[in-house]
Amino acid sequence: MYYPEELVEEVRTRNDILDVVGQYVRLTKRGSTYFGLCPFHNEKTPSFSVTPSKQMYYCFGCHAGGNVITFVMEYENYTFPEALKYLADRAGIALPEREATQEEKREADLRSRLLEINKEAGRYFYYQMKMDREQRAYRYLTGRGLSDDTIRHFGLGYSNPYENDLYQYLKKKGYDDSILKETGLVKIEERGCYDKFWNRVMFPIMDVNSRIIGFGGRVMGQGEPKYLNSPETRVFDKGRNLYGLNIARSSREPYILICEGYMDVISLHQAGFTNAAACLGTAMTQAQANLLKRYTSQIILTYDSDGAGVKAALRAIPILKEVGMTVKVLNLTPYKDPDEFIKNLGADAFRKRIEEAQGSFLYEIAQLQTGYDMKDPESKTSFHRAVAAKLCGFSSELERENYLQAICEEYHIPADSMRQLVVEEARRTGLTGRPIRMREEDLTGGESAEPAGRNAAARPRGRGREKEDGNRTSQKLLLTWLSERPQLYRKIKEILKPDDFTDELCRRVAELLWEQLDSGLVNPAGIVNRFINDADEYKEVAALFNTRLPDNMTKEEQIKAFRETVVRVKKNSLDAAAAGAVDVAALSEIIKQRAALANLHISFD
Ligand code: UTP
Ligand code: MN
Repeated sequence: MYYPEELVEEVRTRNDILDVVGQYVRLTKRGSTYFGLCPFHNEKTPSFSVTPSKQMYYCFGCHAGGNVITFVMEYENYTFPEALKYLADRAGIALPEREATQEEKREADLRSRLLEINKEAGRYFYYQMKMDREQRAYRYLTGRGLSDDTIRHFGLGYSNPYENDLYQYLKKKGYDDSILKETGLVKIEERGCYDKFWNRVMFPIMDVNSRIIGFGGRVMGQGEPKYLNSPETRVFDKGRNLYGLNIARSSREPYILICEGYMDVISLHQAGFTNAAACLGTAMTQAQANLLKRYTSQIILTYDSDGAGVKAALRAIPILKEVGMTVKVLNLTPYKDPDEFIKNLGADAFRKRIEEAQGSFLYEIAQLQTGYDMKDPESKTSFHRAVAAKLCGFSSELERENYLQAICEEYHIPADSMRQLVVEEARRTGLTGRPIRMREEDLTGGESAEPAGRNAAARPRGRGREKEDGNRTSQKLLLTWLSERPQLYRKIKEILKPDDFTDELCRRVAELLWEQLDSGLVNPAGIVNRFINDADEYKEVAALFNTRLPDNMTKEEQIKAFRETVVRVKKNSLDAAAAGAVDVAALSEIIKQRAALANLHISFD
């Protein structure tokens, strides 16, 4: 970390989380917790919570969570130093000039040298295109309708047919093999050094700040692979960048067009649609969706009209919606991709297609229908059921009804029958308005922090939340218990030590929490600071402190639940120890401790 811990803590404590989050999210008080609509995913019923006593936020829908610093990082897309600066300014704290560690300096240096080499290579490819007497790349590109301006604007170039021309060039510039190896531009092997790209048209790939992070190279004419791309490097992460976004980000249109290919982006820009970008030959990722969200709240997908394009669109829709964007899909038929469309019908026709683009839900339904034979009554009924099931996904009654009407009109389905089907479907799959039933491992009898009346249907499904085992759940629960009721620590500190947490992250957090509990100053949001360099980790840590606790149980029930949790964690720890025990003495000690657990008595006062 760049700053002394005490300073980070000072900045954090001087910025009350309720005030800061309140600037962005409208919050309503419910008990000791505040709720609002989550700013990190699309929802209609509030599952985003802020707990002033813990100085933390947590979303029960998308599991975003952390302290005031991570909130600013996520909301404003700031890095840690940027967020700290913002909050320090807000609280009137002066930050010292930051001093990077050796490791950070080395990493930053490596990255900037890789970017410098990429820039050098980009220039080289451009120059090669100009110098080529046969003008192979230039003729290829102009043959595809690109103007000189466009070629320059996108920095397109040419890698000549010699096997290591670029390598030699970069060597002469003074770069040695060890750094060149990291660029992905050359292959350094025992029998020699070769360029990765040769005899291809070169497309420099830039990040949002217009720095070249990698290249795509196309064969001129037929050949395999059609496009060869730089491998991922320290500066090239395909899942976190989009081709053309460096330009599209400053377009004045309120939406961004996402297409599949480099050539599509270039064609669209040339035709005046400077708000087009493309994923880098892979499926849309959540990181890309988040990046796009910085610049727009509306996406129009202009993927190829073939099966692969449809599939890609259907996969991208939920990812984009999850971060809160509206998505439409543009119909390119009868043409294959935007490049072909523009060439054949021109910009005006394309603009018309933008106006006619279909909302993502109706698009999904239309695609769904292609899998059914509408002439066959049975198949048709199945389609209607599938539609009903999809309609169950709306948590807002009004929204569901609006879509229901739109679909019934389009597919000539009697609306009342569809309403009936929706009810049946909801009942069958348990997605009616009933509150969520919690899993037994959660040891809860109610919904402490869970807002009332939330539907299971509103919960984002499936994404990365694999069922965790009961032992880990117990360990999380215990951490939440202790952070919310530090007085319980006295009852268990003789029984449980951080080492008893078998889950690695739980143990690291327990170590910090135990320190705080010993000192009497419990402060979970401060613990989050220790994990702030890794977004996955601090979110997970936030989740550890926000497990649902039973609060509408009687006191006896609560004691029982707490005791069971303690026993479970200890037992699991003893089991793990028994598995690794080397001698009889150790084993009999474990057995003794396990027996003692049966008599464990815990009271709440
Ligand atoms: P397409 O094959 O649709 O390419 O692949 P395109 O952009 O329309 O190119 P042209 O018009 O045929 O020249 C779409 C994207 O998928 C990736 C590239 O990013 C490409 O732009 N791709 C495709 C590869 O990475 N490798 C390949 O071999 C093919
Ligand atoms: Mn294409």
